[in-house]
Amino acid sequence: MERTYVMVKPDGVQRQLVGEIISRFERKGLKIAGLKLMQIPRSLAEEHYGEHKGKSFFAPLVDYITSGPVVAMVLEGKDAVSTAREMMGATNPLQAAPGTIRGTYGMDIGRNVIHGSDSPASAEREINLFFRPEELVSYDRSLDRWIY
Ligand code: PPS
Repeated sequence: MERTYVMVKPDGVQRQLVGEIISRFERKGLKIAGLKLMQIPRSLAEEHYGEHKGKSFFAPLVDYITSGPVVAMVLEGKDAVSTAREMMGATNPLQAAPGTIRGTYGMDIGRNVIHGSDSPASAEREINLFFRPEELVSYDRSLDRWIY
């Protein structure tokens, strides 16, 4: 099983979309392995988005992601990284397919509601940035045999 890092961004929290978004992932079959509401410190935001330092959107992106609380989560399942990315839709909501999370709820790339790791390597890095090992839980679901 694979794990991915997913985060409801400040606009998603303010717009009260947290329950709806978590519900989509749960209903799909992904398992919640970690979950918390947090205010991201600026230093952590800059580290998380470090590969984009120097790009024109870096400062607005850090301002945005630190502008209010986020809901950070670790989701687990078969091909969890690509499954979550497909469900989120394209980075720019304008290009996100209707029915995806960004396609349904987003209007602007600077307020695109959700983040998800783009590869298993990014997922490992981001999970370690946002969660301590003891915050992640492994457990069996009795319904797993109905999903796999
Ligand atoms: S790149 O240059 O192609 O690697 O960038 P991209 O993958 O498209 O985006 C990287 C993250 O930056 C966010 N982004 C923006 N935020 C605010 N304003 C603008 N214009 C903007 N452009 C890109 C984008 O949402 C990505 O953040 P995450 O959290 O990964 O979705």
